[in-house]
Amino acid sequence: MPIPREKWKILYSRERIAEEIRRLGKEISRDYSQRDILLVGVLKGSFLFVADLIREISVPTMIDFVRLASYGSGTQSSGIIEFRKELEMPIKGRDVIIVEDIIDSGYTLEALYNKLLLQDPRSLKICSLIDKRIRREVNIEADYVGMTMDDGFIIGYGLDYNEHYRNLPDIYTVEGF
Ligand code: IMP
Ligand code: MG
Repeated sequence: MPIPREKWKILYSRERIAEEIRRLGKEISRDYSQRDILLVGVLKGSFLFVADLIREISVPTMIDFVRLASYGSGTQSSGIIEFRKELEMPIKGRDVIIVEDIIDSGYTLEALYNKLLLQDPRSLKICSLIDKRIRREVNIEADYVGMTMDDGFIIGYGLDYNEHYRNLPDIYTVEGF
């Protein structure tokens, strides 16, 4: 069922998103000067964020992707994480940054973080475009955060509701979800 247009309310404009990503790119480039970075994008939600972020990073950067899904659809994460696509590049000894669209309960990132840690990277950090901090159920924090938001469900800029709305250039909250 589509979400009626009158329920969308703009939360972050494309200009605001671009501004925060420029800042994140600068911070990362500064922190990793003299190093090579391996970005690990978490599909599907982060595909636009990764694409924009990597162009704001000025140090040598490689990229790989994983695909995770938490069971259940709609707006609630189940806490049961399924790995649908594994890394293709070895990360042992590398400086790795996980790039995620949003941290909600934290279950998805916790599962991925612990899994990647077992592969012995030189360093492992987390960059999330959005942090829903008050929703956290496990103890995991991002090292780089674009925007921090309160409770609520959002769509656009890669974020979906039942696989729709990823293509919206701005981010909206949707009421009653
Ligand atoms: P977590 O495991 O509860 O932290 O859920 C993280 C995942 O749930 C993210 O990677 C998103 O794909 C999805 N998610 C969480 N909140 C939202 C939202 O407000 N809109 C769309 N997707 C969301
Ligand atoms: Mg997702």
